[in-house]
Amino acid sequence: MEKKLSVGVIGLWMGRHHLKGLVDKNIEVAAICDINPETLKKEGDLNNIQEEKRFTDWHDLLKIKEMNAVLIITPDQTHREMSEAFLAAGKHVMCEKPLALSREDLDAIIAAANKADTKFMVGQICRFTPAFRKAKEIIDAGTIGDVYFVESEYAHDYAKIMHGWRRDPLRHGVVGGGCHAVDLLRWLVGDPEEVFAYGSHKLLPMVDYDDATISVLKFPNGVIGKVFVSTGCKRPYTMRTLIYGTKGTIICDNTSDHMELYTLIEGDISVNETPEIIPVDINNHNVVHEFEVFAGHILNDTPVAMSALEGAKTVATCHAIVESAKTGKPVKPNYNFG
Ligand SMILES: NC(=O)c1ccc[n+]([C@@H]2O[C@H](COP(=O)([O-])OP(=O)(O)OC[C@H]3O[C@@H](n4cnc5c(N)ncnc54)[C@H](O)[C@@H]3O)[C@@H](O)[C@H]2O)c1
Repeated sequence: MEKKLSVGVIGLWMGRHHLKGLVDKNIEVAAICDINPETLKKEGDLNNIQEEKRFTDWHDLLKIKEMNAVLIITPDQTHREMSEAFLAAGKHVMCEKPLALSREDLDAIIAAANKADTKFMVGQICRFTPAFRKAKEIIDAGTIGDVYFVESEYAHDYAKIMHGWRRDPLRHGVVGGGCHAVDLLRWLVGDPEEVFAYGSHKLLPMVDYDDATISVLKFPNGVIGKVFVSTGCKRPYTMRTLIYGTKGTIICDNTSDHMELYTLIEGDISVNETPEIIPVDINNHNVVHEFEVFAGHILNDTPVAMSALEGAKTVATCHAIVESAKTGKPVKPNYNFG
């Protein structure tokens, strides 16, 4: 069992939040890395990281003996190579979503994680978003009865950031961003058995693939669902999510300071038309809690809930949605890896 964590952070754009979280919590930062020297300097200075702990080549972190964990917050296409290398070097790894873009890379990361003696966790951040955690708590308490319909969306305008690695056709909007909504629903109600989807392409002319996709999903236990993904939408970022149960309904998202809970009037079969308003923190990148969970797995040697397989199943569902929109046919996600 590890006694103390000494952490490296690779990729300092989204990763700047992770780094700040570590520094704020007094976690030892063994190294920071970014191929962009200006970003490295900026974040290093902001967080008082010593010069000798700053690197532009991630391979250098492999040699740091005292570093026992690493956070990989770099473009999706780098996740496999870095994860394999750090796991092989005996480090604990937390890697951003989507786990990887291709089936081959998903298989390779699962194999590397299974072989390693260290922990591997995928960073599906919605599982730490306060409103979504509260929704899960309400469902698990049975407050809305038996869930029969779930819907979520990933509506996020990429018009200004659709360049470089994000234009890779493998990084279809459903995989790159839509994986958040898909993962959220998988976490709430299980692995979809079949999906059907339509796509549209009117917003992002710089890519050759759809920028809006609607999918319907058949979940286990008679639950049906819907996921809408738009990566060019003209509205502020949101992941509006509805969960319908036999005794009530939850309406929430990741960008509001409250959620709505509808439940039945006591002793009646009708719903109370005034919802309970539940205040929630707006924290759609709750990287501090995410890290606490990762650290807990390392320090207490517990099985990782957000394992490589979990991350891969989410991407497999996204792949099925993309395939269905292309072929016009229902697709069963393939969860058999390796
Ligand atoms: N959890 C979330 O909600 C969330 C949000 C945004 C991005 N992400 C994920 O985080 C990862 C990074 O996304 P981003 O938005 O920060 O991307 P970005 O392109 O904006 O920034 C990536 C950073 O990593 C650096 N970098 C790139 N290649 C590198 C390499 N080989 N070695 C070291 N540094 C390298 C870049 O210089 C840059 O500073 C992606 O996997 C993305 O899908 C997750």
